[in-house]
Amino acid sequence: MGIDYISRIPNNVNLSDNRRLQRALEEWQPKFLDWWQDMGPTGFQAREAYLRTATSVDAQGWATFGYVKMPDYRWGIFLAEPEAERKVNFGDHKGEPAWQEVPGEYRGVLRRLIVTQGDTEPASVEQQRLLGQTCPSLYDLRNLFQVNVEEGRHLWAMVYLLDAYFGRDGREEAEALLQRRSGDDDKPRILGAFNEKTPDWLSFFMFTFFTDRDGKYQLASLAESGFDPLSRTCRFMLTEEAHHMFVGETGISRVIQRTCDVMRDFKTDDVRKHGVIDLPTLQKYLNFHFSVSLDLFGSEISTNAANYYTMGIKGRYEEARIGDDHKLTDASYKVLELHGDGFREKEEAALISLNERLRDDYVADCARGVMRWNQVIKRAGIDFELKLPHRAFHRQIGQFSELRVDPQGRVISQADWDARHHAWLPTEEDRLYVISLMRPVTEIGKFANWIAPPQRGINNMPVDFEYVRA
Ligand SMILES: [Fe+2]
Ligand SMILES: [Fe+2]
Repeated sequence: MGIDYISRIPNNVNLSDNRRLQRALEEWQPKFLDWWQDMGPTGFQAREAYLRTATSVDAQGWATFGYVKMPDYRWGIFLAEPEAERKVNFGDHKGEPAWQEVPGEYRGVLRRLIVTQGDTEPASVEQQRLLGQTCPSLYDLRNLFQVNVEEGRHLWAMVYLLDAYFGRDGREEAEALLQRRSGDDDKPRILGAFNEKTPDWLSFFMFTFFTDRDGKYQLASLAESGFDPLSRTCRFMLTEEAHHMFVGETGISRVIQRTCDVMRDFKTDDVRKHGVIDLPTLQKYLNFHFSVSLDLFGSEISTNAANYYTMGIKGRYEEARIGDDHKLTDASYKVLELHGDGFREKEEAALISLNERLRDDYVADCARGVMRWNQVIKRAGIDFELKLPHRAFHRQIGQFSELRVDPQGRVISQADWDARHHAWLPTEEDRLYVISLMRPVTEIGKFANWIAPPQRGINNMPVDFEYVRA
């Protein structure tokens, strides 16, 4: 049975030549499949979905489309093509050849980073497992499953690194990745946002827009790593991540479009009675998911981040394209801090500010997406603007976590917060309303009332294609 498993794992890492690695993955794969049956999408495992599978890393192979039952999905192991004579591009080892093996002194740190990244992948599948039952269309159902199987593949990607480069410790970590559970009191997932619920499709679209985008920035900074197998793994994962963010951005766009259509047709802001999601509620969901995702970047001032950089393990976003010395020992960076009862920027050492720098890149990217959403509203002739809340709003991690701050960035009292936060974050009533809209629509080409159809289908298929077969 082992050999079959291996031939079923498409890969470009010469799996068949490495018996030790084969054995480790053969042992792990049935446990992964058990986990997938237990914690993967509920209720659709026997259905055929029109999914893309990576069968190689070149332009033809990385997105092979066809019908597949999810448990039969071929979760593969792919690294981006090696770059000839790649170097470590930053930190103390800058200019040395990139490492093809784990440097002994960085073993623990690298393992921790890989496990932390790896843990988010199955976590999001767990968070999204019930959503299929309330899908707004077959098109959306298929997109959900595409995201889910690819998060599964990302778990494979990290498990490959653990098994291939970290020996027995790596194998133990690979097991533990299948044992933690999102939201579990005793064995939660490692990062906060990955223990939140994703109870409805509005949350799912916000999650794929904001939280998968955190993934993009984490992967991009690991793609700069001096540890070459990690770099190549992350580079290939980034190609898939783009689709996840597309699902989020277009999902929210379509919700906005539908809401604006109803506002115009009925000349009212009071759209709930027409069964769509009002713009203020969208703003609240945005506030929640943005703030929770900001926390994923960690503390503004972080010696860990400085160490990862100095070690050459985790770089900046697009490190190689930045025109400086790539050592940062004398550089500074502006970090927002509390000052009196407001905020000001303060020059901090660049090395310890690397989390904040990555967060800045992320915030700018989010802002571009929100701008595109606002264009949908504007085109409909409606006077309303979605906004990213202030970065100190609703934070659990870092220097702002002890503060109460409104979305405009005013520091307020606890009493003020208690009285007003329901205007800024989804209330129980908002959540119940959104959940009340979540009724499955599974007729070919039909869409739930609260969301507009997409402009085009997947892989040039029509919108009314049977994306998931009955
Ligand atoms: Fe992922
Ligand atoms: Fe993702």
